[in-house]
Amino acid sequence: MPAPESDLRSPEWFRSVVFYELPVRTFFDSNGDGIGDLPGVLEKLDYLVDLGVGAIWLLPFYKSPWRDDGYDISDHFTVDPRLGTIDDLDRLVEAAHGRGLRIIGDLVANHVSDEHPWFQEARKSRDSPKRSWFLWSDTGTEFSGARVIFPDYEKSNWTWDDVAGQYYFHRFFHWQPDLNYDTSAVRAEILNFARFWLGHGLDGFRCDAVPYLYKREGTTCAHLPEVHQFFQDLRGMMDAEFPGTVIVSEANGTIAETVAYFDRSHEFQMVMEFPLMPNLFLGFAERNPRRILDVLRATLPGVPTDCGWAYFLRNHDELSLERMSESERAVFFREMSLPSDARIHNGVRRRLAPLLGGDDQSVLMLTSLILALPGAPFLYYGDEIGMGDRVDLPDRDAVRTPMQWANDPSAGFSRAPPSSLTRPLVVEPAFAPSRRNVADEESQANSLLSRMRTVLRVRAAHATVFSSDRFEGVDVGDRPVLGFWRAGSEYQILCLYNFGAEPSTGQLELPGSLWASPVELVRGQGSTVSGRTFRFRLAPRGFAWTLFLTRRERGAPA
Ligand code: NOJ
Ligand code: CA
Repeated sequence: MPAPESDLRSPEWFRSVVFYELPVRTFFDSNGDGIGDLPGVLEKLDYLVDLGVGAIWLLPFYKSPWRDDGYDISDHFTVDPRLGTIDDLDRLVEAAHGRGLRIIGDLVANHVSDEHPWFQEARKSRDSPKRSWFLWSDTGTEFSGARVIFPDYEKSNWTWDDVAGQYYFHRFFHWQPDLNYDTSAVRAEILNFARFWLGHGLDGFRCDAVPYLYKREGTTCAHLPEVHQFFQDLRGMMDAEFPGTVIVSEANGTIAETVAYFDRSHEFQMVMEFPLMPNLFLGFAERNPRRILDVLRATLPGVPTDCGWAYFLRNHDELSLERMSESERAVFFREMSLPSDARIHNGVRRRLAPLLGGDDQSVLMLTSLILALPGAPFLYYGDEIGMGDRVDLPDRDAVRTPMQWANDPSAGFSRAPPSSLTRPLVVEPAFAPSRRNVADEESQANSLLSRMRTVLRVRAAHATVFSSDRFEGVDVGDRPVLGFWRAGSEYQILCLYNFGAEPSTGQLELPGSLWASPVELVRGQGSTVSGRTFRFRLAPRGFAWTLFLTRRERGAPA
């Protein structure tokens, strides 16, 4: 049931829906070759509608050698043949729109695959018209302020190319040469890339590796003013040619650096909430949500009213620990269940459920927290059923295993045998398809999936309140409880979350503007009111959403 506000014509549709991130390759295989595909996503649209999401973020589906799961594009203007065809994409978009679902793609702008004809042409000769599309050097010493992002695999941002007789620059893997944004033809071509897929009906993009497009000597080569200019140009083009489409920025940085991507609503409509994300896990590890409220109080005021944060707990990458201090990291590692080989780059490659010790209640509590904040929550496929990971697989493949649809040898993902799947299934008993799968969880009223659906349904029913930007933290005294009010015009919702491992009780005085007759939307362990004092009780890692009607002034219009 999509949110009532998910009206496809509303320019601010993105503020009221829940997004669902999915990789076509490992979502559902429709033709039995062991590889997920676009028709497979189409077959599962009703599942997404029933779950209650309003928009899908498709991970890169363009032609690619898949050395970085599609983030290494070798042809921007076609679908990877293993995933389907452009016609399949058109059918998927039409079917999604028919069900009131939006669908965004992934705009990989910073780099291409070294197999891309642009790079192949560029490396051949210094006189090639494509030479200036990339960054070359005779010494490989420039831009030394740019840190290496994948330090487990790359030692430098420059790699020598025998064919070119020069070094070329790459911010990620060495098979992903960076484009040179000082070349106007590059900027124009990436805008054409966006135009092409918007022309096929996509409703926008999550933009990849946003901070790194421009390089300047003497800087960290991240978040430069030129980057903002490029994305404002992209936004300008989209507003003019494809009104109602949106862009979400993937830019990890400080609060000031990330807020800047809204740029008074001239740039991104949504910005991934990187400053908050590690604090959600730290607050969980510390059993103290204080820091979460502090970050929210610092990040929410900077958001223009027609924009919104994009909240997430996990995604297809490692959980980045970059913004944690040494002592915070120590707490995180001590308290979370982390096998030593789960660490990678500057983070941890684990899915949500295993990170939270396989505890459904904790998964639900943190998810329902991001569902209640002003902005758009992003869910990662499989986290709604408590799927696990495989830290024995290379790199971030650990968190990219096939979706578990059923208790069946290939997890209902494919008709192909398990040995022929594009990636192996989860095997750890507590998270394997026999324990965690859609079919079984759909049939159990108390499963994680059923409880997720209920919470998403409540959120959708109150989308006006949850999509407003009114947020007020609540002081609950010295307790491991996070509390805040979300206000609409007719009523307010009090959201309470117990980060403690013990039950928690508490009380607060109701503001005079509200009737003291609570309606429990999501029940904690019971609440009472006497006079204007509201008393609550929450289970360990429990949460409650409670509605209070606004009192009207005598004689005020109803
Ligand atoms: C961020 C993407 O999320 C990640 O998966 C990818 O490897 C890098 N950008 C490079 O495109
Ligand atoms: Ca297939």
